[in-house]
Amino acid sequence: MTHPVKSPKKLIEVALPLDAINVAAAREKSIRHGHPSTLHLWWARRPLAAARAVLFGQLVNDPSWKWELDHPGEVPPNHLKASWAASRKRLFAILEDLVKWENTTNEEVLEKARAEIRKSWRETCELNKDHPQAAELFNPEKLPALHDPFAGGGTIPLEAQRLGLEAYASDLNPVAVLINKAMIEIPPKFAGRAPVGPLPKGERSGSLQLQHDWPGATGLAEDVRRYGAWMRDEAFQRIGHLYPPVEVTAAMAKDRPDLKPLIGQKLTVIAWLWARTVKSPNPAFRHVDVPLASTFILSRAYPGCAARPWALLCNAVGVRRSSDSWRIQT
Ligand SMILES: C[S@@+](CC[C@H](N)C(=O)[O-])C[C@H]1O[C@@H](n2cnc3c(N)ncnc32)[C@H](O)[C@@H]1O
Repeated sequence: MTHPVKSPKKLIEVALPLDAINVAAAREKSIRHGHPSTLHLWWARRPLAAARAVLFGQLVNDPSWKWELDHPGEVPPNHLKASWAASRKRLFAILEDLVKWENTTNEEVLEKARAEIRKSWRETCELNKDHPQAAELFNPEKLPALHDPFAGGGTIPLEAQRLGLEAYASDLNPVAVLINKAMIEIPPKFAGRAPVGPLPKGERSGSLQLQHDWPGATGLAEDVRRYGAWMRDEAFQRIGHLYPPVEVTAAMAKDRPDLKPLIGQKLTVIAWLWARTVKSPNPAFRHVDVPLASTFILSRAYPGCAARPWALLCNAVGVRRSSDSWRIQT
């Protein structure tokens, strides 16, 4: 026979500061740095702020929980209602701070929220101390773990981990599994550890190594940065010759007066378009390679970025011939 679990009423069952949560959730859409959305695209991603607030509201007991358990179905007296409202106000203040993007890694704010979660968990354990599996299920020193079986972009397990819970994620989609591994499984394994990869060429050691104590996943992030630099250098060595800088000539500047001050200068190419080529079907030009490109327009947003192969477009855009393709340089 199963033994019933006694569950205190949770904050989420009574009230949440929805306006603050909505504002924080909407703001996340414009975050360009440090947000999981920049790790990998996930179409159904949920806002971190909403997940953080829902988890907090589900884990923290409502101030009325004890009275409600002792007086089921009764109407509470007004003085109690007022005292609960004041306690909720305090919890709302914690939650309003907690959902702000700026506080995502603010240990002081997070710790206040974690303390409330631990307090509620201890209350729940005390309430269930006579449960036959209490030792296993209601250990006041160990918060319950979270499992999100439809984890997708990993918002919920990530936020559970941030709030101090052991988090597990699974999903049918291997891309989601990869995102979750990168976000919640791998970083904790390297928490607090210094980077081990060699510094990119030209960077001096010393300052980096000595100044940091590499909190959280910063050591791992530094290793990823170093590895990225190594990949960029390798790519440059192997195929860099295919992307030479462009020398601005007088001919190029003829129709583009803005390029005149740059004549003779070699400009770095910032983007390339590749097109396959075929020999011209016109017998008079059968020696000419024709690029199979549907358009040479690189941007309609700026005047001057016209559809003109052979001429410079925007800041040094042109078309160059190579053995089997045409490269349009921008
Ligand atoms: C709406 S998304 C979850 C979004 C996630 N909460 C987030 O914030 O990114 C639903 C997920 O459920 C997964 N899914 C659907 N059916 C499943 C199944 N039978 N087993 C495991 N995962 C499943 C999908 O692959 C998808 O990633």
